[in-house]
Amino acid sequence: MVKKLWGGRFSKKTEPLVEEFTKSIQYDQKLAKCDLIGSRIHVQILKKSGYLTSDEASKLFNALLSITHSINDGTFKPDNKSEDIHTNIQNILQKKVGDLALKLHTARSRNDQVVFATKLYCKLSIFLLEREIDKLKVSIKELSDKNKNVIIPGFTHMRHAQPVYLKDYLLVYVEMLKRDKQRLDYISKNIQITIGAGALAGTPIDAVEYSVKASEVLKELEGFAEAFKIIATTNSLDAVSDRDFVIEIISALSTIAMHLSRLSEDLIIWSTKEFDFVEIDEAFCTGSSLMPQKKNPDVLELVRGYTGRLYGNLVSVLTMMKGLPLTYNRDMQLDKEPLFDSFEIISSELKVLTRLIKTVKFNEEKIKEHLKDESLYATDLVYYLVDKKVPFQEAHTIVGKLVKYSLDNEIQIKDMPENLLKKFSNKFVKKEIVKLFDPLVSVKSKKSIKR
Ligand code: ARG
Repeated sequence: MVKKLWGGRFSKKTEPLVEEFTKSIQYDQKLAKCDLIGSRIHVQILKKSGYLTSDEASKLFNALLSITHSINDGTFKPDNKSEDIHTNIQNILQKKVGDLALKLHTARSRNDQVVFATKLYCKLSIFLLEREIDKLKVSIKELSDKNKNVIIPGFTHMRHAQPVYLKDYLLVYVEMLKRDKQRLDYISKNIQITIGAGALAGTPIDAVEYSVKASEVLKELEGFAEAFKIIATTNSLDAVSDRDFVIEIISALSTIAMHLSRLSEDLIIWSTKEFDFVEIDEAFCTGSSLMPQKKNPDVLELVRGYTGRLYGNLVSVLTMMKGLPLTYNRDMQLDKEPLFDSFEIISSELKVLTRLIKTVKFNEEKIKEHLKDESLYATDLVYYLVDKKVPFQEAHTIVGKLVKYSLDNEIQIKDMPENLLKKFSNKFVKKEIVKLFDPLVSVKSKKSIKR
C-alpha cells in the first residue's frame, strides 16, 4: 500500500474508488522538478531555523538532488498509485533516507507546495514558449521579406476593399505575436513565488528565514535565478487561495490561440481553388480516404479547432474558482489539466506553424488576376475627385453611381469614353483616371503609414 501524507487520524481504509477519484499524480507529475526545487529550498530554511542539523540537511538535500537527477536521466518513474507527485516524492525520499524524510514536512503543507511548484512551472513554461513565439515571428517575417513587392487585394467583410502590400498583411501576425509575448512577459513578471504559507495560517518559522538563498538551488536553471526570486509570503491566506496567475496565463494563451486560428483561416481560404493565392506544402497537408484528388489543410484546421479547447480550459478554471470560499479547496487541484493542456497545445501549434510558414508559396499570377477587379480602385477615384476640390461625400456618391453603371452595363470604367465619364463628373479626365487602376499606384498613394 502506498503511504499517505495524512493517515494518522483515520481508522478506516480509504475506498479504492475514492483514491482513484481524488488522485492527481497522472497529471501533476509534470510538477516533479519544480516540487523538488521547492523541497531543496525548504531544507535550507529548516536548517537556518534550527529544525534540521547541518548533517540532516545535507543528507536530505542530496537525496532530493538525486531524485532530480533521476528525472533528468529519464529513470524516474512516477508511482501512479500515489495520491499526487508531492506524496510520491516524499515516499521516494523516505526510501532513500529513512525516517529523516519525515522531518521535511516540518512547517509545510501541500497547499503551499502546490502553488510554489505550479508558479515555478508557469514561469519556466512561459520562458520556453516565448522562444517558440520568436521563432514563428522570424518565420513570418522571412515570408514577408521574400514577397516584399507583392500586392494583394485587401478585404473588409471578406469583400474586395483596397489593394495592400502582402508584407503588411503578413506582418499583422508578427504584431499580434509581439503583443502575445509582452502579455506573457508581464504575467510572468507579476507572478510572485512565495513560501511560508503553511496550510493557510503561516508557520512558526520567522519570515526573515524565508528570504531564502534560492539562487543556490536555482543554479541549475541558469539565467533564471533573478526572475525567479522567492519571497516570504505577505498574506498566507492569499498565497494558498490564489489561482489568478493560472487564469491570466490561460487567457493569454487563448489570445494566442485566437491569433493562430486567424492566421490559419487566412491560409485555408487563400489556398482554396477559388482564391488560389497560396500553395501549402504537401508535407503539411493530408488526403482523403475516398476522394483521391484531395489535398486538405488539416494542420491549419486543427490549429483553428484547438482554439475551442483553449477557451474551454479558460472557462473551466474561471468557473471552478468562482464559488470557492477562502482558502484552499480541493477543487483547485483541477486547475492543472487545463493549464498544462493549454501550454502544450500552444507550444505544438507554434512549432508546426513555424515550419509550415517556411514552405508557403504565393501564386503571383493568380493574385494579379484578382487585382484586375476595378472595384478595388473605387476609393482612389474618390480621392482623385477630392484632389480636384469635389467635397468628399459628393465624390463618394459620384463614384458610387459610376460603379453601379459599370456593373449594370457590363462595361469597365477604364473602357468608358470620356464623354460618358463626364456625365458623372466634368472633373474626370480619362487619361488621368486610367492610371489609377494600378495596384502599385494605389498602395504608393497611401502616405499615412509610417514605414
Ligand atoms: N494534489 C493536491 C492539489 O493539487 C494537493 C493539495 C492537497 N491538499 C489538501 N489540503 N488536501 O491541489
